[in-house]
Amino acid sequence: MADGKGRTALVTGATDGVGRVVAGALAKDGWRVLVHGRDRQRGETLVREIEKAGGSATFLAADLASLAEVRRLAAEVRKATDRLDLLINNAGVMALPQRQTTADGFEMQLGTNYLGHYALTAHLLPLLRRGHQPRVVNLSSLAHRSGAIHFDDLQSTRSYAPGKAYCQSKLAMLIFALELQRRSDAAGWGLMSNAAHPGFARTDLIANGPGNSGLLSYLGRALQPFASHSAAAGALPTLFAATSSAAKAAGYYGPNGFYEMKGPPSPVIVQLALF
Ligand SMILES: NC(=O)c1ccc[n+]([C@@H]2O[C@H](COP(=O)([O-])OP(=O)(O)OC[C@H]3O[C@@H](n4cnc5c(N)ncnc54)[C@H](OP(=O)(O)O)[C@@H]3O)[C@@H](O)[C@H]2O)c1
Repeated sequence: MADGKGRTALVTGATDGVGRVVAGALAKDGWRVLVHGRDRQRGETLVREIEKAGGSATFLAADLASLAEVRRLAAEVRKATDRLDLLINNAGVMALPQRQTTADGFEMQLGTNYLGHYALTAHLLPLLRRGHQPRVVNLSSLAHRSGAIHFDDLQSTRSYAPGKAYCQSKLAMLIFALELQRRSDAAGWGLMSNAAHPGFARTDLIANGPGNSGLLSYLGRALQPFASHSAAAGALPTLFAATSSAAKAAGYYGPNGFYEMKGPPSPVIVQLALF
């Protein structure tokens, strides 16, 4: 990892899972980390842990499922720093069994995983453009390969399938990463935009989403004993995309093992089926 001294990162969804590990690793490497989440208690516990280990962190609370809260979060980031060197769009929800909507009426997975991060990135673009070799890393998933953008029913109002909505949101995150790089190059913003996925990392993503119901939960339980790795291992592709000098603009990084489920980080397959 490149030295983060004097540099500032914002990690969304840093109160749990992969984001928590990523925030801790960046802080250990000298980054000042703005850790985002919804749960103030867990956020402040993480800040204390980072500070105890000699690092620097600030907790910022916001629900990404509300565009007003996203706007407020961006304002808090602007108060905390006058430049941002790294934005990791990590927070996410997976395969909610029943269709839910955000404060603005969007389907919850598209709204949280993609639209909230899209709005946050747009609000923070001026700060990022002032950053030192600024990067934006979007969390996608193996699930992007099974995804399509359902332009005829983007918000799953006509028919809702938990996995289908998740796959769409994660495909949207990957397309967003690639398109952000294209637009940055065209406009001279100087960003590196890339994407990462953790493979199958043992976090609370399933418990927080489908719980014990549905295909993704069943597959998760069946594959976990031999095809998963720890949250710490799952964080490595994100850390690679965010900090390695070998990471490339518009790159996509994940584990290099069987079907990209586990293993050390490497470039992984981009499979874009828009429809
Ligand atoms: N674990 C895997 O195998 C896997 C595989 C592929 C992709 N991913 C992706 O990796 C990312 C991290 O997942 P994870 O496994 O670490 O999940 P996790 O353990 O469930 O953590 C998710 C984080 O996102 C936050 N979050 C969820 N909804 C939010 C909202 N509306 N507003 C603000 N924060 C919100 C959570 O905060 P709360 O604690 O407040 O809920 C938590 O901090 C996600 O984007 C996920 O899609 C994970």
